[in-house]
Amino acid sequence: MEITNVTEYQAIAKEKLPKMVYDYYASGAEDQWTLAENRNAFSRILFRPRILIDVSKIDMTTTVLGFKISMPIMIAPTAMQKMAHPEGENATARAASAAGTIMTLSSWATSSVEEVASTGPGIRFFQLYVYKNRNVVAQLVRRAERAGFKAIALTVDTPRLGRREADIKNRFVLPPFLTLKNFEGLDLGKMDEANDSGLASYVAGQIDRTLSWKDVKWLQSITSMPILVKGVITAEDTRLAIQNGAAGIIVSNHGARQLDYVPSTIMALEEVVKAAQGRVPVFLDGGVRRGTDVFKALALGASGIFIGRPVVFSLAAEGEAGVRKVLQMLRDEFELTMALSGCTSLKEITRSHIAAEWDAPRALPAARL
Ligand code: FNR
Repeated sequence: MEITNVTEYQAIAKEKLPKMVYDYYASGAEDQWTLAENRNAFSRILFRPRILIDVSKIDMTTTVLGFKISMPIMIAPTAMQKMAHPEGENATARAASAAGTIMTLSSWATSSVEEVASTGPGIRFFQLYVYKNRNVVAQLVRRAERAGFKAIALTVDTPRLGRREADIKNRFVLPPFLTLKNFEGLDLGKMDEANDSGLASYVAGQIDRTLSWKDVKWLQSITSMPILVKGVITAEDTRLAIQNGAAGIIVSNHGARQLDYVPSTIMALEEVVKAAQGRVPVFLDGGVRRGTDVFKALALGASGIFIGRPVVFSLAAEGEAGVRKVLQMLRDEFELTMALSGCTSLKEITRSHIAAEWDAPRALPAARL
């Protein structure tokens, strides 16, 4: 049957993938309240479309950290993509390049920064988890820079791994024929089986729980790449991120896989945008599955969005072609949303093009007697 929207890939992936792998990709933390909320919250925002505007030409291009891309739809880092498809991250990188957009490669990729770079030209960011062993981190950042990666997305919401109960039940572990390629040779590329989630144990053993704002400074001292802070959902942390030199902020709750009962990212977005006061760009990830979602995020002040699960699910279903199709479908839907809202370029998308459930009712003009 023909696939007509991004969400349809999830059921295909579920059929194709081993249960342990599908559950790892699909799960959220604990009650998975935030997981549902990341989707549900988009339905609390409605459009206020403008009519009779010439929409015969629509320009979706934008610039992210100075890099020109074809649309404000980018790829979030998702770990271990070779569990979905033998070409894994390399297929994703090619699909992103073909679409003229940015791919973020996970620290925990099953392809190395060098392998991904060798797939051809493309604008790529590198997502960083900070290990206890800072030599490992410094070496990896240098490798990413040398391989032509353009920015670091520093994940700040994972001092410990969120409790994903399916992974505990399944005793999730990276299949033995794969490695965390960036750490191969450093003795950190394998994940031992554990009495719960093998990944949770790996994180507890290797990832630095002491990570704090001073380390954002440290990171700037070892690289000239700009740093996006990924995992901010409050105004307080937005101000701290900017004070500590962040080049941009990604409003993210890690796809609802870390702390459950945090708000959806689309509801947290405006608070962050207001606190950023236009000093750095603000991006969003979490639950984006439609072109209308992209428009809503931009109307609330985001400079662009990232998608996570749609990439691994489409990769599992159809490899590179699947990821290309996901990017194309979102692009087409977003373009249609712009046309039907009366916007011909991203700068024309404003807060007045949407009304959110949490907006105060418009004050009625006082009656004149
Ligand atoms: C992730 N995410 C993630 N984030 C990160 O910083 N490093 C990582 O390695 C991963 N790995 C990862 C694996 C899988 C299977 C998922 C689903 C998510 C979080 C990711 O970057 C992003 O924040 C969310 O996926 C966005 O939400 P959606 O689009 O999946 O709803």
